[in-house]
Amino acid sequence: MTDEQPGVNPSGMQYRRCGRSGLQLPAISLGLWQNFGEGRQFDDQRLIIQRAVDLGITHLDVANNYGPPPGAAERTLGRILATDLGGHRDELVVSTKAGYDMWPGPYGDGGSRKYLLASLDQSLTRLGIDYVDIFYSHRFDDTTPLEETMGALDTAVRRGKALYAGVSNYSASQTAEAVRILGDLGTPLLIHQPSYSLVDRWIETDHLLDTLSGEGVGCIVYSPLSQGLLSDRYLETVPEDSRASGRDTLFPEMISPGYRAMVQALQAIAERRGQTTAQMALAWTLRDPRVTSALVGVSSVAQLENNVGSLRATSFDDDELAELDRYTTRA
Ligand SMILES: NC(=O)c1ccc[n+]([C@@H]2O[C@H](COP(=O)([O-])OP(=O)(O)OC[C@H]3O[C@@H](n4cnc5c(N)ncnc54)[C@H](OP(=O)(O)O)[C@@H]3O)[C@@H](O)[C@H]2O)c1
Repeated sequence: MTDEQPGVNPSGMQYRRCGRSGLQLPAISLGLWQNFGEGRQFDDQRLIIQRAVDLGITHLDVANNYGPPPGAAERTLGRILATDLGGHRDELVVSTKAGYDMWPGPYGDGGSRKYLLASLDQSLTRLGIDYVDIFYSHRFDDTTPLEETMGALDTAVRRGKALYAGVSNYSASQTAEAVRILGDLGTPLLIHQPSYSLVDRWIETDHLLDTLSGEGVGCIVYSPLSQGLLSDRYLETVPEDSRASGRDTLFPEMISPGYRAMVQALQAIAERRGQTTAQMALAWTLRDPRVTSALVGVSSVAQLENNVGSLRATSFDDDELAELDRYTTRA
């Protein structure tokens, strides 16, 4: 099942061009949504980021509100950028976002110019850097004219505070409109960041992937492991240190007998492919060349290394795809 991939470096990392831009991203990128706030040991966080960079993961993704508390993940990354990664800024692609609730009052949420540009300045302070590579509108805001939100991204780029503009969680039609507005402003949309996994296929049914490839926009998919559900982590128990043991974004009740039956079926397919369940789930998102990168979160170096191993086999035959569809999509 091992693919010999062109463009694979000695660490096993593969780089893919982001849409029609000049920027390449690693096929696997690291996100700091969870596990990089104040509730975890800084030394563990540092080891994960160091190992990621060693493995060729040149792209690190945060947002203003990642923590806990909000802002903490940017501060963690800022500490590491200033120390271990000091002198390596030009080898890294750092992204951040604004769009969700960040501070009290009417100017700390949504898609206004007021919020986005103030938030980017705050992010740069926490990160301790002069610019981010990608600045995202984190969500579509139907109470703000899209011209204003895209205008703020264009301003961020023109001020040199971001090199590229991105959107996240926009539908296909909202994205097409964003592409048009940004194109008129002269700051092309670089990338979209949607959710995508074996159990979350909205970017196919909404035709977002078609829109992105037609417009030459890259696609970095988040939660490709469905926050850890598409792995063997919950086959026996709900470990105390796992995301599903908390009450924020995954819940113990989600680990039902039906869920476990699905994962057992996936595990059997993965074993035939010589992969872990997580590796197969990641590889599945990357089977489509329109996906530039799969954005993972990890709570350990071992998970990270396991995930990078998925790149050894990212193609699937028709029988495998049909079998995966049978277990992961409803009739
Ligand atoms: N734009 C947006 O709105 C948005 C939303 C969500 C996420 N994101 C971005 O996407 C990134 C990834 O999201 P995510 O954390 O939900 O992604 P994910 O990769 O689907 O889930 C990560 C979790 O899966 C488990 N895991 C990872 N590798 C594993 C392995 N090899 N074996 C077993 N379990 C494994 C870990 O759970 P445990 O912690 O339990 O060990 C880890 O914390 C975020 O950090 C963020 O940058 C963006």
